[in-house]
Parts: sequence; C-alpha cells; structure tokens
Amino acid sequence: MATSLEVRGVSLRFGGVRALTDVSFAIREGELFSIIGPNGAGKTSIVNCISGRYKPTEGQLFYRDRDITGLTPNARASLGIGRTFQNLALFHHMSVLDNIMVGRHHLLRNNFLTGSLYWLTGARKEELEHRRKVEEIIDFLDLQPVRKATAGTLPYGLRKRVELARAMALEPRLILLDEPMAGMNFEEKEDMARYIVDLNEEFGMTVVMIEHDMGVVMDISHRVMVLDFGKKIAEGDPATVLADPHVRRAYLGEEDEVLVDPDDASPAQESAA
Ligand SMILES: Nc1ncnc2c1ncn2[C@@H]1O[C@H](COP(=O)(O)OP(=O)(O)O)[C@@H](O)[C@H]1O
Ligand SMILES: [Mg+2]
Repeated sequence: MATSLEVRGVSLRFGGVRALTDVSFAIREGELFSIIGPNGAGKTSIVNCISGRYKPTEGQLFYRDRDITGLTPNARASLGIGRTFQNLALFHHMSVLDNIMVGRHHLLRNNFLTGSLYWLTGARKEELEHRRKVEEIIDFLDLQPVRKATAGTLPYGLRKRVELARAMALEPRLILLDEPMAGMNFEEKEDMARYIVDLNEEFGMTVVMIEHDMGVVMDISHRVMVLDFGKKIAEGDPATVLADPHVRRAYLGEEDEVLVDPDDASPAQESAA
C-alpha cells in the first residue's frame, strides 16, 4: 500500500515546553490510525503539525511523497487533508446545511466576482455539483432530519456529527479527527464509531483519530501509536500495543508487576496515583 503521510523526526517546542520530541511514523493509504496517550502527551500538537496549524521546530512532513512542511493549512487542505477539532468549531447561528457548505469553500472556483456570469461560466453547474456532494454526506451521516436546524440548537452528539460532515465536505483523502467522541454517551459513541469505520471503508478516506476511549480505539483501529510526554513510546496493531508493558505503565497507569497485594497498598501510594 502507498504511503499517505510520513512524519519524520518532528519536534515542537513552546518556549521551554517540549510538546513533541523526535516523533516519526508513517500511515498507509486507507489506514485507520489512532493516536492515544495521556492528557498533554502531544496528540493535538501532532495533528496540528499535520494540518499546518503548528510549524514543527524540527523535522519534516510528507503527504503522498510530497514535502508539505512549509505549506499553509489552506494549501494542505487543497491537497486533501481535512480535520475536525477537539473543541467544537461550528457556526452556531447557521443551519446544518450551511455549516456543511462552508466545508466546501476552498473547492469553489467561482466566487462573487464571477457571480454575475453565473449562467455563462459554469458557476451554476458547479453549484449543483456542490449540492449533490453535500446531500450525499447528509445522507451518509443521517443528518436528513436536522438539515435545516440551527447548528447551535442541536444536542452535543449531533453537533459533533455536523462537524464531521463539514470536514468530509472538503472531500479529504486524509481526515484528522481530534477526539470525535469526547463527551458523548455510549450510544452516540457507537454511532460515531460506525460512521468513522464507514467513511474509512466506503469513502476510502485514510483516518488519523485521537481518542480516549480505549474500547473504541482497540475495536476499530488498524494501527495505534502511543505518545507520552511528547515521545512515541509504542506503535503497532491494537493487540500488540495493548500488551506493551511501557504502554500499560504510562497510559493505563499499571505497574510492571503487581508487587504488593492491592489490599496492602498504603494510603500514600493511593493518593499518589
Ligand atoms: N499553543 C500552545 N502554546 C503553548 N503550549 C502548548 C500549545 N499547544 C500545546 N501546548 C503544550 O504542549 C503539550 C502537549 O499538548 P497537546 O498536544 O494539546 O496534548 P494532548 O492533545 O495530548 O492532550 C502540553 O504541555 C501543552 O500545554
Ligand atoms: Mg488534545
């Protein structure tokens, strides 16, 4: 399988804070790749480096064999890198439909300058094509019943889904999902997991997902990478990563071996956990 994205020796510092240290990994076309790790591990930072929001202090990024390290976020979006945000970023006063249309703005060749030539320039044909694409996504994500609703009035789970729809509207080949299920209840999570699997399998999108719910991550990911204090500590298929002692210690908070009977654990140890 061809390589979608390669991250090569990326480090990122904010003043004295080392958000990322020499992180390297590669993602194949069509993969569903998850990034896990404790809070502050650098997960959002690496996604921001991929989308172009952050510029790495060191290292390079390649997308489909092209060096994108110096490209702006917009240029990367035009190449097919889409994303959602950890915190909701919808236009709350706008309808669901309009929020999704916004996702296509960079694909609009015709703008207000050519608007007067609407019938002559192919603008109308273009608009119909945009509508068709947006309708396809609305169908796919089962947003039909709320298409005209004001985004800000929807329950949280649905708003996250609208955000996913907007990211999909860009027709990315590679989609970056920063905690798409955060704050959701069990049913909402199940739905979202299914949509993510489907967009990976049916739409053929390569997925990079940050997610805290280990059950979901292990269930749907092809491969998983673990970050801890800005460093990669493990990478592999879910079963291998889950069994890795470093991961169990760093992420799941387990000791290498259980040396003390849990009943004997001192109060000091408990409060340190
Ligand atoms: N814009 C920023 N300015 C300063 N520090 C930042 C910024 N973004 C992230 N960091 C720091 O980088 C580290 C990694 O953060 P982040 O990538 O958000 O972690 P995660 O998403 O894994 O919780 C943290 O110490 C965080 O405070
Ligand atoms: Mg984060």
